[in-house]
Amino acid sequence: MLKNPRLQSLNRRFPKRPWIIAHRGASGLVPENTLTAFVLAVEQGTDLIELDLRLTSDGHIVILHDAALERTTNGRGFVHEHTLAELQQLDAGYAFTLDGGATFPFRGLGLRIPTLEEVIATLPQHIGMNAEVKSAPWDPADRRRGQVIAEKLVTLVRRHPDLRERLLVSSFDAAVLDTVRRLDPELPLGLCTLPIAPLPEQLRSTVERDYDAFHPMDIGFDEHGAAVVSAAHLTGLSVNVWTVDSPARAVELAALGVDGIITDYPEATRHAIERALGSFVQRP
Ligand code: G3P
Ligand code: MG
Repeated sequence: MLKNPRLQSLNRRFPKRPWIIAHRGASGLVPENTLTAFVLAVEQGTDLIELDLRLTSDGHIVILHDAALERTTNGRGFVHEHTLAELQQLDAGYAFTLDGGATFPFRGLGLRIPTLEEVIATLPQHIGMNAEVKSAPWDPADRRRGQVIAEKLVTLVRRHPDLRERLLVSSFDAAVLDTVRRLDPELPLGLCTLPIAPLPEQLRSTVERDYDAFHPMDIGFDEHGAAVVSAAHLTGLSVNVWTVDSPARAVELAALGVDGIITDYPEATRHAIERALGSFVQRP
């Protein structure tokens, strides 16, 4: 793989491939994007956690996937319409169910929407962070919120120099990534892509913009995976695939040489890859 100076710290800290990246924490087992999900992912041996960043009405970064509160919490409306104090009253375990809605085992247990600062304070320093900045590129106000998150993230990294060593900033919105690049040219950036174009074209847009990691959905890898992974590595890009919840599929992608598996089940994924491939592959 071509040497990419912006990936140097992450590669040094996490030399084995593939990285296990816990998607919204261990979100297949406990409520997503909560401290509980991140701590469980750590206990399950994840390398990095993936988490979704959004902005409150009073300018704090909180961790929630959706723009709206209804799917995962007992709140109503959009995250950006609420203050941090209001959001902290909500039950982030309210809607989680493993049996199609028959039971809600985390409801009322006190799980909260965390701030980014709380996650940083909670995570052990050996765990990496794939911080995905949420932004809807078609909505100028939401894109601006994404860019504000990017600016705040850069400021936060200045206050937490250890974070710089283990942070990957990702987004579907290039404008957000370009904001980070402008303010802190050394931070590694990953572009999340959707399968609206063939996989090689998604890779091309990532290469052309000089990002450091390619974060595609797991679609098109059976046809294009080997070529795309080789091409990405030739240009110094990591390939981190989402969301891979079948351990057998994770093994196939690992065998193709992808750099990261973004999964809701970090432990099952790690075990399957260890069983199938003997041990994780050390980077050359
Ligand atoms: O970061 C990869 C993945 O999380 C992107 O999709 O919708 O789960 O945030 P989403
Ligand atoms: Mg995400």
